[in-house]
Amino acid sequence: MKLIFGLMLLKTAACLEVNCSFNQSDPCYTALGHKLNLLMVDTSRYDLKILKIINFNSDDPVCRVKNDMMKECDLFNKRPEVSVINGILIINGVIRADSGTYRLILEDSYGRETSRDLQVIVEAPIGSVEVSIICSSSGVMRASCSSDGDPLLFSWTLNGDPLMDGNIIDLDEGTDGNISCSVKNHVSHQQKTVSVKHCPESVVFVLVWCFQMMFLLGLLGGFHIYMRHTSGKKQEDQQVRMSRFREGHEHTAED
Ligand SMILES: *[C@@H]1O[C@H](CO)[C@@H](O)[C@H](O)[C@H]1NC(C)=O
Ligand SMILES: *[C@@H]1O[C@H](CO)[C@@H](O)[C@H](O)[C@H]1NC(C)=O
Ligand SMILES: *[C@@H]1O[C@H](CO)[C@@H](O)[C@H](O)[C@H]1NC(C)=O
Repeated sequence: MKLIFGLMLLKTAACLEVNCSFNQSDPCYTALGHKLNLLMVDTSRYDLKILKIINFNSDDPVCRVKNDMMKECDLFNKRPEVSVINGILIINGVIRADSGTYRLILEDSYGRETSRDLQVIVEAPIGSVEVSIICSSSGVMRASCSSDGDPLLFSWTLNGDPLMDGNIIDLDEGTDGNISCSVKNHVSHQQKTVSVKHCPESVVFVLVWCFQMMFLLGLLGGFHIYMRHTSGKKQEDQQVRMSRFREGHEHTAED
């Protein structure tokens, strides 16, 4: 009869560091607030320009790197957490504004230029996951899962078997066992498992339903009596007016 919750928290630690390379064709997914290492190139052979493509013009912020040192860097202006070490651009604490498309321009000692683009996407790591189970009056068990972070992709298992995806799912009233909600995005993953016992038998709900109906009927009855009372009064007024009118008519007929 009772719905018992057994709580079990399974946490998988989110990576605190992401390695990406200007070489890669896939986007670089990086976690908000965490460290990003952007592998560039051997800085002893090239002078580098890191450009953030915003308007595709000369106003786009740029950072020049010579001999592994950042120079003229309006791209990461006044951000001491950004550095270049051994050809790796390190952002020690990624912010939302770091999302975007970057172009790395290499210039060799003959002045020849080549370039590579990389898309950086910042995602907020998943916070703690909450699962709640509600039994509806129709006997359906509804499981909902929530967390913070973005974007959030929800998936469920019941005793290890996959269920539907989505943050809210409906289950059979007889569902018994361990339900896990897993939430993930490109940079992190969290999971929570709760143990559920089938929903209470419908008797309780029928009783609750009966009480609700009685209450509603009571309200309707009261409203009906009230309406009759007020409309009765209106009818009386109408009759008085009608008879006065008739009297008036009779008088004029006599004249
Ligand atoms: C990133 O690269 C460094 C240096 O190659 C390595 O030590 C580290 O384990 C890498 N981190 C991840 C999360 O792959
Ligand atoms: C990645 O960089 C390495 C060395 O910088 C180069 O040899 C390789 O061809 C590059 N790969 C791609 C896919 O550009
Ligand atoms: C649910 O989890 C508990 C605790 O880990 C375990 O003892 C139990 O056997 C599990 N139930 C099912 C149906 O897998």
